[in-house]
Amino acid sequence: MDCGQQYPVDKIIYSCEKCGGLLDVQHDTDYLKKTITRELFDERLGTLEAPYNSGVWRYKEMIYPDVPNDMVVSRPEGNTNLYNSAKLADWAGVKTLYLKHEGENPTGSFKDRGMTGGVTQARVLGIRRVSCASTGNTSASLAAYAAWAGIEGIVFFQNKQIAMGKLAQAIAYGATGIQVDADFDRNLELVRQVAESLGIYVLNSINPFRLEGQKSIMIEAIQQLRWKVPDWIVVPGGNLGNSSAFGKGLHELYELGLIDRLPRLAIIQAEGANPLYRSYQNGLTAIEPMHAETIATAIKIGNPVNFKKAVRTLKWTDGVVEEVSDQEIMDAKALIDRQGLGCEPASACSLVGVQKLVQKGIIKPHETVVGILTGHVLKDADAVINYHSDHLEGIHPRFVNKLYQSEATVESLSAILEAKEASPA
Ligand code: F0G
Repeated sequence: MDCGQQYPVDKIIYSCEKCGGLLDVQHDTDYLKKTITRELFDERLGTLEAPYNSGVWRYKEMIYPDVPNDMVVSRPEGNTNLYNSAKLADWAGVKTLYLKHEGENPTGSFKDRGMTGGVTQARVLGIRRVSCASTGNTSASLAAYAAWAGIEGIVFFQNKQIAMGKLAQAIAYGATGIQVDADFDRNLELVRQVAESLGIYVLNSINPFRLEGQKSIMIEAIQQLRWKVPDWIVVPGGNLGNSSAFGKGLHELYELGLIDRLPRLAIIQAEGANPLYRSYQNGLTAIEPMHAETIATAIKIGNPVNFKKAVRTLKWTDGVVEEVSDQEIMDAKALIDRQGLGCEPASACSLVGVQKLVQKGIIKPHETVVGILTGHVLKDADAVINYHSDHLEGIHPRFVNKLYQSEATVESLSAILEAKEASPA
């Protein structure tokens, strides 16, 4: 992406051999301009035919045009809903807020959209072993897609602070799970080194085929809005793969004439894991790695590898970066959960990020906002139970749903329910 050096798609490579920069999948824009239309993608809505029944492969021409359909490894993913909650919009301070729930993917996070791209490429290359470092969701997704493709998955994660739902998935789907006494950033370095020496294919978001799949979140959201571009897209930022993919997808939609303007992108980081936010305060010239700490373990990342691509996204979309505290994350999550939507802690950055940006006058109340919910509520059940029982260190829960204990008698149950009715929360 920096020096313009080109490599064939069947070369196993994660950074430029000439300049060390990140790699992009480059499409033939002239060819695509002649081939794709909004109507083509609309006609495929609701089809039962694989792979076009996937909310990633519906846009196959923009994702990986040449791959034979029978090589595609799909569950199928995507087709996630766009929710319009008046209550949450009101709380955030905007008239129209849509939440796109990526927790509705097959393994419960947006990572499946990237993994279908990455594991398909692994199959094209004839790879037998794939690997990633992960704060949890990538490993759950890799484990599932590797198993589905009949190849070996290997996942590295920090030996503490991984949410139980994610760890359970990786084990259940049969990946080789290795807990390492190191944070995500160090694990990512290790996975790259081990992969090179042992010939294992890396499926972290440095793999450009993953980001091609994740682009589809933007294409699908805009198609769901009948191709009307929202004013804002708001997304949590960790390793910045999603932010990078969103920028590329939006830029390509614009270049191909499928949209007539770009939305602005807001990337929201947790205060304790905010290297991009800090860099943004200093003009985005460089990123300073930091020790990350946040209750939103999915985004506990201090040295995001996709920094340069995220900066490109911010430039293309006239984007902004905001930070939110763990307290704000957990309270916003409780509100999202309470609507019956539910999400994991990191996802709630999107909602509270909107509220903060409205309060600062950056997002205007009349503007249309799409927030991305990145993961399912059950990914981190401990966070839910500990919040509602007031067992989270440093957090004072504002929206508690108390759990009651009762004797096994009608009298005891009635007393609880009558007291609740008399003073509803
Ligand atoms: N939300 C959730 C639920 C995530 O799992 C992640 C990243 C993010 C947001 C941040 O996305 O890295 O593209 O900026 N999880 C990765 C993992 C790092 O290993 O599962 P990003």
